[in-house]
Amino acid sequence: MTFSHDIVIVGAGGAGLMAALYAAEEGADVAVVSKLHPLRSHTGAAQGGIGAALGNEEEDSWLWHAFDTVKGSDYLGDQDAIEQMCKDAPRTIIELEHYGVPFSRTNEGKIAQRRFGGHTRNFGEAPVRRACYAADRTGHVILHTLYEQCVKKQVRFYDEYQVLDLLMTEGGTCNGVVAYEILTGDVHTFHAKAVCFATGGYGRVFKTTSNAHAGTGDGFALAVRAGVPLQDMEFVQFHPTGLYRLGILITEGARGEGGILRNSEGERFMERYAPTVKDLAPRDMVSQCIYTEIREGRGINGKEYVHLDMTHVGKEVLEHKLPEISTFSRVYLGIDPVEQPIPVAPTCHYAMGGIPTNVDGQVVRSGDRSDIVPGFYACGECACVSVHGANRLGTNSLLDLVVFGRRTGMAMAAAIKADNKKAALSENPEKRTRDTLESIMARSDGEKAVSIRTDLQETMMKNVSVYRNDDTLAESLSDLKDLRRRVKSVTVEDKGRKFNTDLMDAVEILFMMDYAEAIAAGAKNRTESRGAHSREDFSSRDDENWLKHTLFFGKGDDGYDIEYKDVTITRFQPKERKY
Ligand code: FUM
Repeated sequence: MTFSHDIVIVGAGGAGLMAALYAAEEGADVAVVSKLHPLRSHTGAAQGGIGAALGNEEEDSWLWHAFDTVKGSDYLGDQDAIEQMCKDAPRTIIELEHYGVPFSRTNEGKIAQRRFGGHTRNFGEAPVRRACYAADRTGHVILHTLYEQCVKKQVRFYDEYQVLDLLMTEGGTCNGVVAYEILTGDVHTFHAKAVCFATGGYGRVFKTTSNAHAGTGDGFALAVRAGVPLQDMEFVQFHPTGLYRLGILITEGARGEGGILRNSEGERFMERYAPTVKDLAPRDMVSQCIYTEIREGRGINGKEYVHLDMTHVGKEVLEHKLPEISTFSRVYLGIDPVEQPIPVAPTCHYAMGGIPTNVDGQVVRSGDRSDIVPGFYACGECACVSVHGANRLGTNSLLDLVVFGRRTGMAMAAAIKADNKKAALSENPEKRTRDTLESIMARSDGEKAVSIRTDLQETMMKNVSVYRNDDTLAESLSDLKDLRRRVKSVTVEDKGRKFNTDLMDAVEILFMMDYAEAIAAGAKNRTESRGAHSREDFSSRDDENWLKHTLFFGKGDDGYDIEYKDVTITRFQPKERKY
């Protein structure tokens, strides 16, 4: 069946729903296609807050926010985009509030704000309260509010449709997607004037992650297959405080409310590494410091974790401001944070890199910003604007979603008003998808997706996580070559059409193979340490050679090409990062 809409948005998290809402507000006919029910999108797991210099609890300014974001990015973020995001932040939060987001409140009834890593007043002087929050369920309430508003605006939702192909004309204009309806096993074409990817991140490519099971990076793979580059994929964020062994997020807001990291000696070790901001240093630093403590023998009980101590913070704060993480700790580890410290270790959390776009969500093909892919947009975690550079500050992901989701929705609606044509579909747009599905279903021997995925996650975790070096990266690339061979024989036991999750697992491992190489190859090439890319064999930042963005062009079995493009610098010249 062929469905036809002005705009087709793939993914129903915060970015996709913002884009849908603001495009629908402009009168566009908008469809959202998602492999999950929208309220199961991973935005719902975002806990601690959304950054905006509202100045509700103490003095703040968008310029300080921009400076912190640039410094946090280790000077790899594009400063024009960062300025745009930080300037747009306060008005976007107020709009969210007016749409109905139930933010926590100060005693005077203003939106409450808390401290977060790397957010400071007056260009680094001391931590500032900039994160607007709703207890530790900030993403959850934003997601629910946006969904309600989209329903009100008559956005059309196609829930549990897995998108399997991005359609382009011969001239390179994007004109739709092909999706598999999980309930029935039918394949459908969505024909559109504009397509927007808001498909989220790829945390599931690593063994330990805070990401939901759906975080398999589908959009990255579909873009690569369509000849679109991926930018800065070597920068992978490990959040410092995942529940030990499980990787489940314990919000940075816990440290914002006074939580302290301690090693086996009970020492508040972050004081040694970041004397000004201590436990509220940016994530790349804190994760690296935790691993250094562990490697030097100061992990708790000789194991690979440290303690997050909240015992001095008090029951009242834990119950009212951090109820979700208190429950996680009790339910998953049997530890009551009121009485005992929580065992934590870094967990793969966020993709700084992604599909390159400009500030209006238009996908950009090369270093030339006017070289856009007509009809193709991206926003949210799958996109790289780039506001996070080499390391994202906490709270800037929800902010990125809402600011650039909003801008992308408005830009798509404006583009359609200016030129209301829909590029014609090719004769058989579903062929590639049907061929892939049929060949997987027809195989009777071969390997199941789960064993390939486990090996992929192991090599990525062992070789491409917080610390890397030339040997580990070479090993990962060689493992990936082998996995690419194995994935060709991926097979399924379930041969049915309805809710064939076995088949969806197979499709997702094919996706993972198409972008995992971008992470490892970008990291191997980049012979410096910057932000979350920490090379044991090149431990310093090297601005002379590496103050540039990576562009990865995948060629399937024929390898890949890597190019570089300039970083945009406006006000803040690169300096050594000290906290
Ligand atoms: O720690 C957290 O609550 C996560 C926030 C974020 O990733 O921005």
